[in-house]
Amino acid sequence: MTAKLPVNQILLGDNLDLLRRHVPDAGVDLIYLDPPFQSGQDYVHFRDRWPWDKTSEAAFADLVERGPQKPAAFLQNLRELLGAGDTLAYLTMMAPRLVELYRVLKPTGSLYLHCDPGMSHYLKVLLDLIFGPEYFRGEIVWRIGWISGFKTRARKWIRNHDVILYYVKSRRFTFNKIHLNHTYGYQRRGKAGKAPGIPLEDVWGLSTEEGLTSIHIMSFSREKLGWPTQKPEALLDRIVAASSHPLDLVLDPFCGSGTTLAAAERLSRRWIGMDISSEAVALAQKRLEKITPLLPPGAAS
Ligand SMILES: C[S@@+](CC[C@H](N)C(=O)[O-])C[C@H]1O[C@@H](n2cnc3c(N)ncnc32)[C@H](O)[C@@H]1O
Repeated sequence: MTAKLPVNQILLGDNLDLLRRHVPDAGVDLIYLDPPFQSGQDYVHFRDRWPWDKTSEAAFADLVERGPQKPAAFLQNLRELLGAGDTLAYLTMMAPRLVELYRVLKPTGSLYLHCDPGMSHYLKVLLDLIFGPEYFRGEIVWRIGWISGFKTRARKWIRNHDVILYYVKSRRFTFNKIHLNHTYGYQRRGKAGKAPGIPLEDVWGLSTEEGLTSIHIMSFSREKLGWPTQKPEALLDRIVAASSHPLDLVLDPFCGSGTTLAAAERLSRRWIGMDISSEAVALAQKRLEKITPLLPPGAAS
């Protein structure tokens, strides 16, 4: 492992290897990860298909050998119940990465895992086994946006939300409560003075909230950088503002176009990004160069 944390850097490579080589135990305040979802799609720069193959077999054997015991036992049981197929291959990829992310998190740290309803139930069990079920702090439902195009033709309830699983490492976690502004004309019943606003709940992206609609359905979005799975900055602003302080260290091990890093930089946090695609790293680096932190250098210390 290299001695110095690669702060404010975007590392190119497989995050499992990068985490093991570059990130020491208990050094990170906040982790947000938006990994492939097991969607079965081929994106221009990465494949989100997980057929069971030699790589999965080797990763499975490695997890069983290295442990920890509970996630390994969970996957061994799933293998008996579901067989060695796409679901097991995907979870075999995710499990050791979640174990490493837990290792690098500070005792006061938080982790947010962005996924969708196809895999969220398995991922939640994995996280329960790694963090302990008592450290599950909630599930955020993010409404992706308005419905149009091919989605409207689906013969089912149209999927229009993602899931963000939220865990903390101990009871000493950071949480800055966020309030939304009251709508115009609101007055506190029987009380004078300014109300603090509405405390944020766990359903995000309803029509009244600005900036939270997926940028992919907004052809006019100025945020759009051409990365197929890019998330809105407003989504990450909330997570970074609520679960870290200025100068804290934020890690995104599947950083793509660098949305988390951009939010962290603007909010005067330190950050580390990782991605296996050189196109993503180049795109995120270019994006970060253009951001000015809200606090002047030194003001956050
Ligand atoms: C869903 S995208 C993340 C999008 C990002 N949140 C954004 O706003 O642009 C997932 C990213 O994970 C990267 N990736 C996939 N497997 C990886 C691995 N083993 N190590 C590092 N990055 C990986 C892909 O290249 C892709 O950019």
